[in-house]
Amino acid sequence: MPRRYPPVLVVLHWLAAFLVVGALLGGTFNMADVPNTDPGKVATLRMHMIVGGLILVAMLVRLVVRARKGVPAPVAGPGWQVAAARAVHLGLYVVTIGMAASGGALAVASGLPGMVFGSAPLPESFQLFAPRMVHGVLATVLGVLVGVHVLAAFWHAGVKGDGIMARMWFGR
Ligand code: HEM
Ligand code: HEM
Repeated sequence: MPRRYPPVLVVLHWLAAFLVVGALLGGTFNMADVPNTDPGKVATLRMHMIVGGLILVAMLVRLVVRARKGVPAPVAGPGWQVAAARAVHLGLYVVTIGMAASGGALAVASGLPGMVFGSAPLPESFQLFAPRMVHGVLATVLGVLVGVHVLAAFWHAGVKGDGIMARMWFGR
């Protein structure tokens, strides 16, 4: 079992982290309440689709690489903390991929590619399509998971001082 995350997983973790936080903030504050009649909406949707696709690729590649190369053993601690860390990490994979999948389903249902890469008109609202509800609910769940994950990481690093950040960085 490696003592730290392999470099490719480190790169993909921080890339995905940056893109996921961006997609969550952008989706919530730049898209959800902006009407589809807004002239800037198509460009925002295009960027969001591309970022969402990149996130999906990054998460799937991570799953393949971690299965092949292995990851470090859980940080030592009480059983409930080890179990909670495992559950949150699993949740982050499942819900992030679920976000991309529901976004993809929404794109298919609404004909989004023809709107952002072609000249088809936007629908009155994306709320007309069922996957939009799933996408919105999962966004809230993902926001909570990311919040718990980041607080836990800083607690490990700052209070427990167990070198957890170094495992998710480069070095020997
Ligand atoms: C500032 C933000 C973040 C910090 C400080 C952070 C920190 C960390 C650290 C230190 C680890 C290693 C945990 C361990 O060794 O057991 C980790 C793992 C992980 N992080 Fe983050 N993270 C952040 C954001 C995110 C975001 C936004 C996601 C959403 C996808 C994410 C998903 C994951 C996953 C899935 C793992 C488990 C990796 C695996 O075992 O394959 N992280 N994170
Ligand atoms: C993992 C990646 C993704 C994240 C984190 C994400 C995040 C979000 C968030 C936070 C919202 C606003 C939800 C709300 O407040 O109710 C949203 C809306 C939306 N997302 Fe995503 N998304 C992702 C992937 C995708 C993909 C891949 C597509 C399309 C291919 C997509 C298409 C949309 C659309 C069409 C909306 C609706 C905008 C509106 O209501 O005006 N998303 N997304």
